Amino acid sequence: MAEFNIYRFLDLAGGVKIDDLDWELCARIGISDVEERILRYMGDTESHTILYMRDLLAGHSTRDPEITAFLSAWVYEELCHGRAISRLLKEVGRPDEEDRYTKVTAGSSVREFVEAALSHAAAYLSPRFIAVHMTWGAINEATAAAAYQQMEERTANPVLAKLINRMARQERRHMAFYWHQAQKRMKDDPAARKLVNFAIKRFWTLVGSGVGGDENLAFISAHLFADEAARAALVKAEENIRELPGMEWFDLLTKQSQAKADEWVARHGPGRYVTNDAQALAAGVVSA
Ligand SMILES: [Fe+2]
Ligand SMILES: [Fe+2]
Repeated sequence: MAEFNIYRFLDLAGGVKIDDLDWELCARIGISDVEERILRYMGDTESHTILYMRDLLAGHSTRDPEITAFLSAWVYEELCHGRAISRLLKEVGRPDEEDRYTKVTAGSSVREFVEAALSHAAAYLSPRFIAVHMTWGAINEATAAAAYQQMEERTANPVLAKLINRMARQERRHMAFYWHQAQKRMKDDPAARKLVNFAIKRFWTLVGSGVGGDENLAFISAHLFADEAARAALVKAEENIRELPGMEWFDLLTKQSQAKADEWVARHGPGRYVTNDAQALAAGVVSA
């Protein structure tokens, strides 16, 4: 895993750049229904990052200057990802409904609420709980980066491809922070490793499964991570996590994603990632 320097991260931190994107071209090519559904899920997850931060920023983690500095910049970057996705959806004529944030927040599950409360409370019990949050964060950032990368490789819309490439790069930086924090806290501490193992095995689920909705998660697994190349991206993300002390067993990312994809296929048949190839051809751009 690449080194991480918090000061460099803070110097580079900021909202994803969108002011140079060719929105006119983006609108002319548009996006497919499949892409809209994936982007909405990602956008909802991104714009609800503040709720995850509420749970992360508790107890012992509030006393760690590196963590508080990172989270301050991180939450803003994620908010900007959500805003960038909303902007793109609007530009292609598929705007969010007015009160989407409120509706999505209200729809997040009771289970998620209980888990968040437990996680918040646990953060006060032991400084070791930070290791759980950091490992959790590393897994989720790696998943988000893999999802964006898969979309970038498949979409026919070069503007969407450019935007998600920029977001994926930020996700990888986030991943590096969480990963190094997790590693530092677990390497000489068997009790921390034990706690992380227990918590991840017992509670971890794919990112956004509460806010984004279970059916949408199954849709994404079946449409974005269905083929060999996409599964390889998840395996790679998993391998990064396995390099953490005590996490050599970690296989939940591929297992849960496969289970979700199977659920979708059983109910609706195989998923197919549809792109706006004809529009891209008409606009004179080569498929991304
Ligand atoms: Fe993000
Ligand atoms: Fe991120």
